[in-house]
Amino acid sequence: MVTSVLPRVESLASSGIQSIPKEYIRPQEELTSIGNVFEEEKKEEGPQVPTIDLTEIESEDKEVRERCRQELKKAAMEWGVMHLVNHGISEELMDRVRKVGQKFFELPVEEKEKYANDQSSGNVQGYGSKLANNASGQLEWEDYFFHLIFPEDKRDLSIWPKIPSEYTEVTSEYARQLRSLASKILSALSICLGLEEGRLEKEVGGVEELLLQLKINYYPKCPQPELALGVEAHTDISALTFILHNMVPGLQLFYQGKWVTAKCVPNSIIMHIGDTIEILSNGKFKSILHRGLVNKEKVRISWAVFCEPPKDKIILKPLPETVSETEPPLFPPRTFAQHIEHKLFRKTQDNLSN
Ligand code: OGA
Ligand code: NI
Repeated sequence: MVTSVLPRVESLASSGIQSIPKEYIRPQEELTSIGNVFEEEKKEEGPQVPTIDLTEIESEDKEVRERCRQELKKAAMEWGVMHLVNHGISEELMDRVRKVGQKFFELPVEEKEKYANDQSSGNVQGYGSKLANNASGQLEWEDYFFHLIFPEDKRDLSIWPKIPSEYTEVTSEYARQLRSLASKILSALSICLGLEEGRLEKEVGGVEELLLQLKINYYPKCPQPELALGVEAHTDISALTFILHNMVPGLQLFYQGKWVTAKCVPNSIIMHIGDTIEILSNGKFKSILHRGLVNKEKVRISWAVFCEPPKDKIILKPLPETVSETEPPLFPPRTFAQHIEHKLFRKTQDNLSN
C-alpha cells in the first residue's frame, strides 16, 4: 500500500524552516538565472509579453476584425503567449473563481488531504504535490489541485472541493465561458493559417472531445526563493492554456535567450499556445518555454486551464496546408499520449547526459 508521506510544500513553508530541503534546490547552472521576482517584474527594458485586446475579434466590420486577428497572429507567432484583455469574461466572475479557489486552499492541510490524488494508481485528479520523477529527486515549490472541468459529462463532481459551497457553481460557469473563448481563439487562429474557421477546433477534438483541465497552482512563501522554482521550465502540452492569478508576479517566459518576467495586467487572462497547436501549425505558432518563480513575502496562486485533445483518438501532425516544399513538417505524427511519452523520454535522456 502506498500512503501519502510527502509533506505538502505548504506544511514545509509554515513549519518555520529558514533553509529549504535539498530536493527543492535547483541545479547550479539554473541558479544563476533566478532572481528576486519583484525586482524582475519592475524591469521596463527589453522585450515584454504582448497584450492583445479582443474587443474587435468578432466585429461586424471585416477590416476591423482582420486587424484584431493580425495582432493575435503576430503574438502567437512571435511569443506564443500573451495577456488577453477584453476577452468577454467578466471581472466579477474572475474574482469569484479566485475567491473560491483561495478559500479552498485556506482550509487546513488535513482537510485538503481528504481530496489527495494518488498518482501511483493513476488517479491524477485532486490535491497533490509533484513527485520526483528522476534520480536527482528534484521537487518544485508548490502544491496544486487538479481536475477536469469541461465537457460537463466527463467531470467527476465527487472529487471537486465541497468547501466553499459555491466552488462547483462558480468553477463550472468559468469553464463554460472559457470553452467559448477557446472556440473564438481557435477560429481566429484557423483563419490566420488560411484554414476554414472551424478547422483547428475540429482538429483538437471539438466540443465533445477537447478537455479542459483546471490546475490551481498554490505557491507558498519560500524562505530561499532564489534557490527554488515554483514550476520548472517547460512548455505546455495543451492546445491552449488560459491562466488567471492573484496578481503576485511569478511567471517567466524564455524569449530570445533570456527570461522575461510577465507583468501583472489587471483583468487579463494569460494565454499560451501549447505544443498541440504548435504541431498542427507546423511551428508557425510557438509553444514557449516558461517557468514560475516563488518569493518570500506573498503566497502566489494561479488558475491554469489546459485545453487538451483526447489522449489516443487523434493523431497530431502538421496540417497539410501548413507544409510545403520550403516548409517541411517539423514534427512526426504522434497521438497526444505519445507526445507526452516522447517528452518524458527526452527529459530522461537529458538527465542521463548531465
Ligand atoms: C503551468 C504553469 C505558471 C503559473 O501550470 O503549466 O506554467 O503562472 N504555471 O503558475
Ligand atoms: Ni505551463
